[in-house]
Amino acid sequence: MNIAIVTGGGHGIGRALCRRLARDGVRVVVADIDGGAAQTVASEIDGIARQLDVGDETQVLALVDGIEREVGPVDVFISNAGVGYGDGDGGAISAEGGMNPIEDRWTASWNINVMAQVYAARAVIPRMLARGGGYIVNIASAAGLLSQIGDAAYSATKHASVGFTESLAINYGDGGIRVSVVCPQAVATRMIGMEDDSGATTGGFGGNEIDGILAAEDVADIIIDQALAGHFMILTHEQVRDYIQRKAGDYDRWIGGMRKFRRSLAR
Ligand SMILES: NC(=O)c1ccc[n+]([C@@H]2O[C@H](COP(=O)([O-])OP(=O)(O)OC[C@H]3O[C@@H](n4cnc5c(N)ncnc54)[C@H](O)[C@@H]3O)[C@@H](O)[C@H]2O)c1
Repeated sequence: MNIAIVTGGGHGIGRALCRRLARDGVRVVVADIDGGAAQTVASEIDGIARQLDVGDETQVLALVDGIEREVGPVDVFISNAGVGYGDGDGGAISAEGGMNPIEDRWTASWNINVMAQVYAARAVIPRMLARGGGYIVNIASAAGLLSQIGDAAYSATKHASVGFTESLAINYGDGGIRVSVVCPQAVATRMIGMEDDSGATTGGFGGNEIDGILAAEDVADIIIDQALAGHFMILTHEQVRDYIQRKAGDYDRWIGGMRKFRRSLAR
């Protein structure tokens, strides 16, 4: 049986991925900083719960070491845990956070949205190469291709996640490592101000509803189906494909359009 680790598996998209993988017969390790939530999900799906902070490399290494020793080889590592704090009143150059304040949101965003994915890759890729295969899935965001209005730290770190994941795919594809990056738009989770696991797909904040909000369960299905189809770039919201083409085709026009969108949100 395949073994998959899902970080941030206690809530939202991660939890939905855990549920889908378990339905597919995968043995799932639900890893989350919220140990209680990880345990709840693991009990539901007959998985394994692990509490950790993915922004700490020692804890990520210990997680992988422990699972490989006690359970078996990790076939799939999904780096899903992520954070977004929003810009403070000063906009993109704000030192403070916005709707979800934290003292040092730039460092936290780098650690959790980017370095955690680097730590996971460092922990599992050498073992996967030695075994001749494995699969890394990094959850970034459409903000990593387009930008999240109102959160410069989120936008910058999600771009970094996309860039890092491209490097993994280019470097290790020949060694049998499959790699995907996932770039969703709005998903009904706490991250966009929705109630956890409510099933609602309206509400939230920050203009997220503009193209529609998808349920985490639907997003998990799209991710796994596209992963099984072998795609590197997994777009859960089809319109993003068109947006990135328009952006690449005329960057100046795209910036103008985003400024207009930002003005409309401020009204
Ligand atoms: N919800 C959206 O609209 C949306 C859109 C695009 C991308 N994403 C990305 O999807 C991923 C999942 O987010 P979500 O929407 O499910 O949000 P969520 O807040 O519901 O879930 C995030 C999970 O990560 C866990 N987590 C946070 N910090 C952690 C840490 N340091 N160590 C371990 N676990 C930690 C949380 O406890 C939580 O279970 C994130 O990377 C997010 O950036 C979300």
